Amino acid sequence: DDIVTRMKNIEMIELGRYRIKPWYFSPYPQELTSIPIVYICEFCLKYVKSNKCLERHIAKCLLRHPPGNEIYRKMNISVFEIDGRKNKTYAQNLCLLAKLFLDHKTLYYDTDPFLFYVMCEQDNKGYHIVGYFSKEKESTEDYNVACILTLPPYQRKGYGKLLIEFSYELSKCEGKTGSPEKPLSDLGLLSYRSYWSQTIVEILLNLKPTEGSEKPLITINEISEMTSIKKEDVISTLQHLNLISYYKGQYIIRISNEQLEGHLRSMEKRKIRIDSKCLHWQPKD
Ligand code: COA
Ligand code: NA
Repeated sequence: DDIVTRMKNIEMIELGRYRIKPWYFSPYPQELTSIPIVYICEFCLKYVKSNKCLERHIAKCLLRHPPGNEIYRKMNISVFEIDGRKNKTYAQNLCLLAKLFLDHKTLYYDTDPFLFYVMCEQDNKGYHIVGYFSKEKESTEDYNVACILTLPPYQRKGYGKLLIEFSYELSKCEGKTGSPEKPLSDLGLLSYRSYWSQTIVEILLNLKPTEGSEKPLITINEISEMTSIKKEDVISTLQHLNLISYYKGQYIIRISNEQLEGHLRSMEKRKIRIDSKCLHWQPKD
């Protein structure tokens, strides 16, 4: 029944050079739930029941990177765009893998309506998957991310925010604003809040005084257009940071020196960034 099938069912996975303990249930085939380790090919994401099977598979598997187009490369970081209709098996295997670390998302067996953006670290052995996000080809609600994941061995190193930054770069190319699909997990919300805060504060700091006014002027709409962050998320971020106040009939944004220093400190930690010059991508019609 429903409750039983939602219990964590996989003990351990082996993916490339990592053994990873799953966090949640994922609907892998029943016969894989009673064995100590599920072996996953780190390139095509096919799952098998033993190390022997994996070795046999690796001897035949020709992939050394995800399928699809490499649309971004800077240094050893690449992003591949995969169409869930054209590369169905890969997309389904990616969803199964991701579900091990996603609690609240329903698994879409139908991958056709989605694109998948897989971030990899490259070395002499190939392109190693670090994380990904999925995106509906057509979103009626302006979602620019459906699911987002950094694989546990790579977490807390800045890749989550790099994936988020990448998702907004795509939205900028589309000339649209976007927002992640709700509900967000706790870790998802933390990462988005941090990205939104840094991005918006950065813009405020770079504002030049406006002619005819002693203070720089900017509207919420302008911040939204410059960043592709949806207006509601800009407002909630300003409120969350307590930067916005109402004074003599106007909204005023004010940053304390402490907040400013905090911002500069946190930007120093953000070493890897997306370089829009290295993105080779155009929205489909
Ligand atoms: N505890 C406390 N803070 C955490 C954290 C944790 N376990 N994990 C991330 N953060 C904070 C970081 O401190 C960072 O904030 P800062 O730069 O202001 O300090 C921010 O979140 C982003 O960190 P980053 O290293 O860029 O993110 P990540 O690579 O760890 O990935 C997720 C973030 C959400 C993608 C990752 O946790 C994940 O894949 N979780 C499982 C799937 C999920 O919940 N996805 C979102 C819902 S769809
Ligand atoms: Na994390």
